[in-house]
Amino acid sequence: MASPFYITTPIYYVNARPHLGHAYTTITADVARRFHSMSSDQTFFLTGTDEHGDKIVRAAKKEGRTPRQYVDHISGLFRDLWPELNISNDHFIRTTDPEHMAVVEMILQRIYDAGDIYFSEYEGLYCFGCERFYTERELVDGCCPDHQKPPETIKESNYFFKMSNYQQWLIDHIKANPDFIRPERYKNEVLAFLREPLDDLCISRPKSRIKWGITLPFDNDYVTYVWFDALLNYVSALGYPDGERFETYWPVVQHIVAKDILKPHGIYWPIMLKAAGIPIYRHLNVHGYWNVDQSKMSKSIGNVVEPLEMKNIYGLDAFRFFLMRDMVFGLDSNFNEEALVQRINADLANDLGNLFSRVLSMAHKYFDGVVPHPDAEAEKEMDLGLETNARSAIDAYTEAMDQFAFHKGLGTVWTFITHMNKYVDVTAPWILAKNPSARRQLETVIYNLLEGLRVIAGLIYPVMPATAATMQQHLGLGGDDEFYKLKRLTSWRGLEPGVTLRKAVTLFPRIDLDKLKRAPQNKANTTGKTAPAIKPEISIDDFAKIDLRVATVVSAQAVPRARKLLQLEVDLGDRRTIVSGIAGSYDPDDLVGKQVIVVANLKPAKLMGVLSKGMLIAATDAGGVTLATLDRTVTPGTPLS
Ligand code: MSP
Repeated sequence: MASPFYITTPIYYVNARPHLGHAYTTITADVARRFHSMSSDQTFFLTGTDEHGDKIVRAAKKEGRTPRQYVDHISGLFRDLWPELNISNDHFIRTTDPEHMAVVEMILQRIYDAGDIYFSEYEGLYCFGCERFYTERELVDGCCPDHQKPPETIKESNYFFKMSNYQQWLIDHIKANPDFIRPERYKNEVLAFLREPLDDLCISRPKSRIKWGITLPFDNDYVTYVWFDALLNYVSALGYPDGERFETYWPVVQHIVAKDILKPHGIYWPIMLKAAGIPIYRHLNVHGYWNVDQSKMSKSIGNVVEPLEMKNIYGLDAFRFFLMRDMVFGLDSNFNEEALVQRINADLANDLGNLFSRVLSMAHKYFDGVVPHPDAEAEKEMDLGLETNARSAIDAYTEAMDQFAFHKGLGTVWTFITHMNKYVDVTAPWILAKNPSARRQLETVIYNLLEGLRVIAGLIYPVMPATAATMQQHLGLGGDDEFYKLKRLTSWRGLEPGVTLRKAVTLFPRIDLDKLKRAPQNKANTTGKTAPAIKPEISIDDFAKIDLRVATVVSAQAVPRARKLLQLEVDLGDRRTIVSGIAGSYDPDDLVGKQVIVVANLKPAKLMGVLSKGMLIAATDAGGVTLATLDRTVTPGTPLS
């Protein structure tokens, strides 16, 4: 019988746009889910957004929006990004969903009634960035380790959750279930933490300070601490307490998080479940952090990697492959576009892509694109063991993927690809083809190679679903919805002789690293040597003819039927419409309120039926279009000189 598999990502805060880190965790969950669907398990994949708390209120205020408008907008960015990255989540939960809020209230009331929540006055060191109290020993040089700012001393009466009651129970649980938290280093980190007495958790925030949250069911003057609210998403999304999904998928869940939120998931969450009388989750899988060009990703450094930009430059499957192949699950990794290009060229264009087009071309050349009949006798005579290689690859792959060792899983596939490439060299079909008496051998060799490609297509499906589908179509398996299932892959001779193959295609074009290095978006290129030639000189009077103005965007919308164009209403002293080709790089909603630079005296022109009075100044490189802006807000209409 199929065993259920439930996979979750953290629900992301909506105070920032999605970036590489969020994309990595969510792609990882997608890969795990797709891998499990290969063995026909019933699967459920959950992601979503965490929308309450101080952080969100502050971010909304900064943008001049109400918390509700703000969370709807950013949550939408996450929700809309996932299909672009081929993420196959079954549900997208928001902590502002009424069903979720009802579950939080119910569980709080239950724990309160059981006597595990008490009211007390507390004075402590509070970090507004983290929305939590810190103890002295948790600070680094007197500062919050995440925000590098000293926390503020605040005094408040609040509700506390008696975590200390469950400390010994948790230690015993972790020791009795050695793979409860994995990889091991993170289990050890949690156990080390539990060696010190566990503080009770402050689970309320007074409404006098913050109103944006779930009201405590037993005290109207308080809202729930965001973590107590957020963690419950994993059960509320299943329709806890009576949902059929809860029945099926709890507690076999596999949570995935990065190391930054180990403590809430490794300590608060199991204790909350225990106190609420809900079975404890099965596994917590913890990965490391992506740094970019050796530093932490941050808006101020300007090294935040946008997943869609990567997809647009390198292709989605190549990007997904790189993330899964390069990061050892559990350890930190460094994101670097040169390394990405090298992997695309070596592993994808060379090893896999060449093999695929070479084999298909030979099948067309020698057998008119029809799968030949293998011959048992010829197979025995040659005895080159491709089938055995395929089987060991599948076994090693399954074991690694099951353990979340995705880099290893892919490694086993590439070992098999190397065997396949060697098999081509050793059997030399082009020589067999010259000898009519070697026809049976040739048929067998080409059949085996096509079979090997079928296995590879199945094994890469979790990481590169689109490439797997292209391979499937070309191998004449278009009608087989289950081509990637493990039971299909383990039965050698799955391809039917006589089936027609499609013509070879290039799965992954090679990327010219030198060209990429010369691209203006590459920060390493500071010489300007390869930038376009400077235009002929002009006088200051020539320049003075161009009336550049600062304008504030009042509204923005797509121009119907024009993929690249946005129509903006701007304020530059007067109000006017400007049409700009920036739709591929900007979401209209993100532009409202932004200050841009406009060529105000450009002759008006009609673009797709809309009269545009002026032009926005922007730079375009391989990463798309980026608008020129100022580093502080000025009065709309201010001239530039
Ligand atoms: N809202 C909480 C989670 C609540 S879950 C009940 C939160 N949100 S977050 O937006 O800050 O997301 C943190 C998660 O995003 C990390 O645990 C990780 O999954 C992902 N990442 C964010 N930055 C990352 C890197 N630089 N590298 C890898 N993953 C990272 O915490």
